[in-house]
Amino acid sequence: MCDKAITGPGNGDTPQIRLEPTTQAAREARRFVSKALAELGHADLVEDARLIASELVSNSLIHAPKLPIWVGIWRTGAFLDLEVWDCSPKPPVYLDPDYLAESGRGLHIVKELCSSTGYTIFDCGKVVWAILGFKRSWAPGISWIN
Ligand SMILES: Nc1ncnc2c1ncn2[C@@H]1O[C@H](COP(=O)(O)OP(=O)(O)O)[C@@H](O)[C@H]1O
Ligand SMILES: [Mg+2]
Repeated sequence: MCDKAITGPGNGDTPQIRLEPTTQAAREARRFVSKALAELGHADLVEDARLIASELVSNSLIHAPKLPIWVGIWRTGAFLDLEVWDCSPKPPVYLDPDYLAESGRGLHIVKELCSSTGYTIFDCGKVVWAILGFKRSWAPGISWIN
């Protein structure tokens, strides 16, 4: 792991929070997401976004426990982009579903709750992102153009 702390996603306009890697981090991430989504006018996405943030920050705490974690969320076109940045350059891995296993569910939950998810690796860490589609009536779903 690189010992240089990664910085968050954005410029000054991006709603983002820097979390110390403590047991409070997931709770602080949930609070941040609730507040940011209320301000963005997307209270309908709060529950999904809180769970996603919780899972991703919990993963960051395990795999990058020594340096701050950043969480950002903002609107991009018809979607919301929720990002968690940590200092581990190792990628998240979708483990095969196993009903008896006690681990390996987090990323499957994230995938189910969002429209699209993935990650980007940098020299000193990575960002794991989840794109949430609006649930309002004027955006009833997502269709891909083939
Ligand atoms: N932020 C992360 N940094 C490095 N590896 C990660 C990160 N998040 C997830 N992983 C990898 O992906 C695997 C699956 O993550 P997840 O589905 O959340 O299950 P679990 O956390 O229970 O192991 C983890 O076991 C780990 O190997
Ligand atoms: Mg996990």
